Amino acid sequence: MLLAIETSCDDTCAALLDGGRILSNVISSQAAAHAGFGGVVPEVAARHHLELATPVVEAALAEAGATLDDLEAVAVTAGPGLIGALLVGVSTAKAIAASRRLPLIPVDHLQGHVAANFLEPEPLEPPFLCLVASGGHTQLAAVRDHERHEILGQTLDDAAGEAFDKVARLLGLGYPGGPVVQKEAQSGDPEAFEMPVAMQRDPGLDFSFSGLKTAVLYRCRELGEDGVRERRADLAASFQKAVVDQLVAKVRRALKKGHWEAVALGGGVAANGPLRAAVAELCERQGVALKLVPIALCTDNAAMIGSAARWAHPVAYPDYLGYDAFATGERMAA
Ligand code: KG4
Ligand code: ZN
Repeated sequence: MLLAIETSCDDTCAALLDGGRILSNVISSQAAAHAGFGGVVPEVAARHHLELATPVVEAALAEAGATLDDLEAVAVTAGPGLIGALLVGVSTAKAIAASRRLPLIPVDHLQGHVAANFLEPEPLEPPFLCLVASGGHTQLAAVRDHERHEILGQTLDDAAGEAFDKVARLLGLGYPGGPVVQKEAQSGDPEAFEMPVAMQRDPGLDFSFSGLKTAVLYRCRELGEDGVRERRADLAASFQKAVVDQLVAKVRRALKKGHWEAVALGGGVAANGPLRAAVAELCERQGVALKLVPIALCTDNAAMIGSAARWAHPVAYPDYLGYDAFATGERMAA
């Protein structure tokens, strides 16, 4: 039995897995603690992880009907993410693993989002094309095996989720932005405001969302406070459509460039209803299989980290005692 811990941003998560089967998947969201700031405050996140780590691990064990004695290994997100937040998870995992002389399995957060697709029931077998869109990253990944993914294209500026969060703040909708913008957009007209659909003429597979965010900012300035309040749903719908259009256009282009038989989504933005519908329509038209994991496995969770850990490299006790988290880029050697 594997214990997995994920604390890269503002969700404190622990899960127990038996192979690809989820025995428990506990997520304690700190969203309320950050809502007043309109985004995640790194130091506040780290402090909350510190308070929540033990109860969340205990809840995951209890839900699975397990104890620490049942564990065979401990997996943890080593990066990328907020360094203070990551350190709490890595220290917790090291302490639990070291106390039982168990191996520690450091996992890359983005590989975790990809690996959510490998979970039971109906795990998706590579190769497939995976769009990973979260609060920190937006990338198209070629998944040719279970161990890693190759980045075919990525955002040149803001991440898609970051754009949702920033626009939610501009519209006075709170944090996290994705779900509230999606809800507001339901009663809006997606054609009401013309938004720049970036990177359409770019032949590559990269993304850009900062121009879109600026366009919303200018519309808000033109409309003034009362105007924004009146047209909030139209602004949300027009913005959301522009994000979805760009993401789908790049998936379409990637399908044209490569010969993929299956497409998968990952990351918090993959929870977006209109995005899921638009990718489903594209895949149906192109005759390509589509894998959509449940929404709880799109946003940050520890089950996906436990899934990726099955193909990651375990570090034996005591070699991981000096192991560090990493904020950006590639994992450093232990
Ligand atoms: O993967 P995730 O939980 O954390 C990171 O790794 O960043 O993604 C969080 C991001 C946030 O920016 C949030 O606004 C966005 O995913 N998100 C959504 C939706 N649910 C969450 N974006 C659009 N529509 C949603 N329904
Ligand atoms: Zn994530």
